Amino acid sequence: MSVSKQVKRITTHTLQAMKEKGEKISMLTAYDYSLASVVDDGGIDVILVGDSASNVMAGHETTLPITLDQMIYHAQGVVRGTKKALVVVDLPFGSYQGNSRLALESAIRIMKESGAHAVKLEGGFEIKESIVRILTAGIPVMGHLGLTPQSIYKFGTYTVRAKEEAEAQRLLDDAKMLEEIGCFALVVEKIPAKLAKTAAEAVKIPIIGIGAGGDVDGQVLVLHDMLGITQEFQPRFLRRYANLYDDMRTAVNKYVEDVKRRDFPNESEQY
Ligand code: KIV
Repeated sequence: MSVSKQVKRITTHTLQAMKEKGEKISMLTAYDYSLASVVDDGGIDVILVGDSASNVMAGHETTLPITLDQMIYHAQGVVRGTKKALVVVDLPFGSYQGNSRLALESAIRIMKESGAHAVKLEGGFEIKESIVRILTAGIPVMGHLGLTPQSIYKFGTYTVRAKEEAEAQRLLDDAKMLEEIGCFALVVEKIPAKLAKTAAEAVKIPIIGIGAGGDVDGQVLVLHDMLGITQEFQPRFLRRYANLYDDMRTAVNKYVEDVKRRDFPNESEQY
């Protein structure tokens, strides 16, 4: 009898238990089958199919142009490449704001057509109705507060959010509300570390930070940034774990040279 190695999938309940045990949650983005397989094999807890695909994969300046169909396409590949990680997919700009029925339909399409496990939405009280409606369909929702890139034209810059008392208090109120209505976790982006710590202590659900310091329940980074594939984006919070842009360019260069000087293919590389 062969012993098959069954991998146990991370669920929203696993993440809750991790917070309760004080075990940090690791989360990275991925947008395709190949890199999702690497990230999953690397032991990540959560893969986010972020709408940052709009920047990283399509070269747009903001996350606003990416469509629901495009997010579903990215998510399908990621789900196929993942055995263990919980896969969360961003609802893109325009697919949920101000219209809870549209929000529910968008979330259902993501779950049905990609096989992902949860969705993420940016915002607090202003999108409460949309989140509640998605939750009533049994779809797990991750919130996203602080710097919410879909609102970049309202903010005007990608600078640190909630430095002032009023915005900080609003963020804490939003975090508590999102917990109360049933979100399973929250991302907080680019806010003071002290505020992020207060938020993580104020709610029982996991708070996952990006540019929010170490006193939260987990960390998320954009994969292409931490691997050094993207070059221009260099915020203070980003730690680069590789310099793949240079490695890949060197490899391409070498291939071009080998083709030009008739070194590739050699005898053992042909039929
Ligand atoms: O789209 C994304 O990559 C994100 C992360 C930065 C949290 O929302």
